[in-house]
Amino acid sequence: MKKILVINGPNLNFLGIREKKIYGDRDYDFLVKTVKEKAESLGCEVEIFQSNHEGAIIDRIQEAYSDGTEGIVINPGAYTHYSYAIRDALASVEEIPKVEVHLSDITARESFRSVSVTAEVCQKQIFGHGIDGYCEALQFLVEM
Ligand code: DQA
Repeated sequence: MKKILVINGPNLNFLGIREKKIYGDRDYDFLVKTVKEKAESLGCEVEIFQSNHEGAIIDRIQEAYSDGTEGIVINPGAYTHYSYAIRDALASVEEIPKVEVHLSDITARESFRSVSVTAEVCQKQIFGHGIDGYCEALQFLVEM
């Protein structure tokens, strides 16, 4: 059974509260439930980790190096646009395939959101598909 790690960065725990016009009114628990159901239907194991802290996200990526993780889905939140530290951590685990996901269409918002410093070290980037984007990412990693 493939072991996939889903990492959600800052403010994603505030889904259903934050900017509902952009992110919708489904809350974080719904995201977790949806991802777990998709993993079950694909026959893979999933762990879902969320942190508002850059260092904690980097620590979790580094742990993935030796805990048997076979794929990473990451939504780095705003860190996407400027965290070279998270980018370097992702690049460090180069043998683990990675998909970057964004709920919103980051290409159609403020110009600073169009830049992702983390996507370049991932195999794929999915944006604008809401929570379904996480399911697409899981499917991609399982089929790889
Ligand atoms: C986001 C997009 C980011 O620009 C933003 O800072 C987020 C969420 C998304 O999922 O659409 O926190 O990553």
